[in-house]
Amino acid sequence: MAGASEGLGAAFAVQLAERGMSLVLVARRAQLLAELSERLTSEYEIEVRCVVLDLADPEFTAALADAVAGLDLGIVVYNAAFTPAGPFLEASDVEIEQAVDVNVRGPLLALRALVPSMGSRGKGAVVLMSSLSGLQGTPHISVYAASKAFNLILAEGLWYELRSHGIDIVACCAGAMRTPGYMRSFGRDVPGMLAPDEAARRTLDGLGRGPRLVPGHLNRMTAVLMGRLLARRTAVRLIGRSTRHLT
Ligand SMILES: NC(=O)c1ccc[n+]([C@@H]2O[C@H](COP(=O)([O-])OP(=O)(O)OC[C@H]3O[C@@H](n4cnc5c(N)ncnc54)[C@H](OP(=O)(O)O)[C@@H]3O)[C@@H](O)[C@H]2O)c1
Repeated sequence: MAGASEGLGAAFAVQLAERGMSLVLVARRAQLLAELSERLTSEYEIEVRCVVLDLADPEFTAALADAVAGLDLGIVVYNAAFTPAGPFLEASDVEIEQAVDVNVRGPLLALRALVPSMGSRGKGAVVLMSSLSGLQGTPHISVYAASKAFNLILAEGLWYELRSHGIDIVACCAGAMRTPGYMRSFGRDVPGMLAPDEAARRTLDGLGRGPRLVPGHLNRMTAVLMGRLLARRTAVRLIGRSTRHLT
């Protein structure tokens, strides 16, 4: 679980623990990981390893490889993300690089490090986090949205390529969820919000049903409207109005 300390990542961890899976939890905040680990090991008969590392660090795969040495990984979930919100012209290079490092290079490096052993065993699954914002340009979070499109397209291609190796991949195009990260970036509720545990459950249940899924009925309707029914420029304008408060 890459990005497991809170929000959707912690919800994935709980869902996987409920399914009887032992876990390797990765994030930067050791205290949150330790608390989650304690809760999971007391409630479920599983083992949990906590790995405190920064997924923006290009060297993180060495620590990750050490942490999973000797384990037969069943599923890799890359959930971590960074969201630079606000006008592109005012964003700092540091913010933009952080988004590329965590949201684009991070999942690539994690998959390159972890998926080959699944291929050798002919068994495994991967969840990559995309977003409804990755289905079209999303003003005021343009870099984040583009990084989520990257994860979607990567998952789709690998879904086809890795099927013959026994590996199933799904990209979760989540709509808004009330997570601590969401509230820090956006600060307000929107219609159709799913609880993180509901989104995690639906995503895991969706494995084996194709390369992309959109959890939640209203979110699926939004995806069809924005992706298929509206002209591209209309879709982008509409989204731009809904993210205008970020400027
Ligand atoms: N929330 C939404 O409404 C929404 C909607 C669509 C898609 N999504 C996607 O769903 C995923 C989870 O969203 P969320 O709202 O739960 O995110 P979040 O609250 O911001 O949490 C992200 C998790 O990733 C970890 N993380 C972030 N940067 C990291 C880094 N550099 N190194 C290691 N761990 C890092 C965080 O832990 P530490 O800070 O402890 O490192 C945290 O556990 C993201 O991929 C997001 O794009 C979310």
